[in-house]
Amino acid sequence: MNLILLGPPGAGKGTQASRLVKERGMVQLSTGDMLRAAVAAGTPVGLAAKAVMDAGGLVSDEIVNGILSERLDQPDARAGFILDGYPRTDVQADALDAMLSGKGLALDHVIELVVDEDALVDRITGRFTCAKCGEGYHDRYKLPAVAGVCDVCGSSEFKRRADDNADTVRQRMLEYRAKTAPIIPHYEGRGIVSRVDGMANMDDVAAAIDAIVDA
Ligand code: AP5
Repeated sequence: MNLILLGPPGAGKGTQASRLVKERGMVQLSTGDMLRAAVAAGTPVGLAAKAVMDAGGLVSDEIVNGILSERLDQPDARAGFILDGYPRTDVQADALDAMLSGKGLALDHVIELVVDEDALVDRITGRFTCAKCGEGYHDRYKLPAVAGVCDVCGSSEFKRRADDNADTVRQRMLEYRAKTAPIIPHYEGRGIVSRVDGMANMDDVAAAIDAIVDA
């Protein structure tokens, strides 16, 4: 089972992808996470990507296609993957088609999380993650059970993303509308696009995604 989760920043792609990893043993392929790891490691890709990401723009197709292709070659991707944040442009959608057919892989579903963009700034500016295990939280929608202690690993260190401020989020949304939403028709003709109400609570979004995957 290979999926694309599509939706604007804060739609819940990462939240639902990490749940599918835990519950189904799938692999989450987040180009945002890959780029943030490259930035943290100071690699040439990270150095090229940092300023673009901080400004809310899109990193070049060439860089992103390269890191995704390498990641798809790792054996764990054969167990079923969730693409989170990729593809984001027409060029990336075409590159993905070529990569998958070259590697003998196929897409089963493209699931669009449909959200009210006005609510997303609030979701994103309230987001934080455990610095040790990466578990995601939110100031209002998902707090740790014990204040200041990660539910999963017990760490008391948390972090917030550099691009999770209101101005950058608005730029990321503009990029989504201009360059990413237009790729949906690329998949419509194949009959693999489904839509889920991303404004529902997290459990209801999860149930709707499970119903698509299990159909
Ligand atoms: P990326 O890391 O992909 O960020 P994004 O697409 O902006 O998406 P987010 O991670 O912000 O949101 P999400 O949908 O995963 O929401 P989440 O589940 O965390 O990309 C970052 C940057 O990297 C880009 O701007 C670009 O520069 C670069 N980049 C990455 N990929 C690229 C590519 N392919 N090409 C070019 N550049 C690329 O949820 C958000 C919050 O809401 C959380 O706190 C969560 O707890 C909460 N929440 C989730 N669901 C719900 C719900 N149903 N109800 C209430 N709260 C909820």
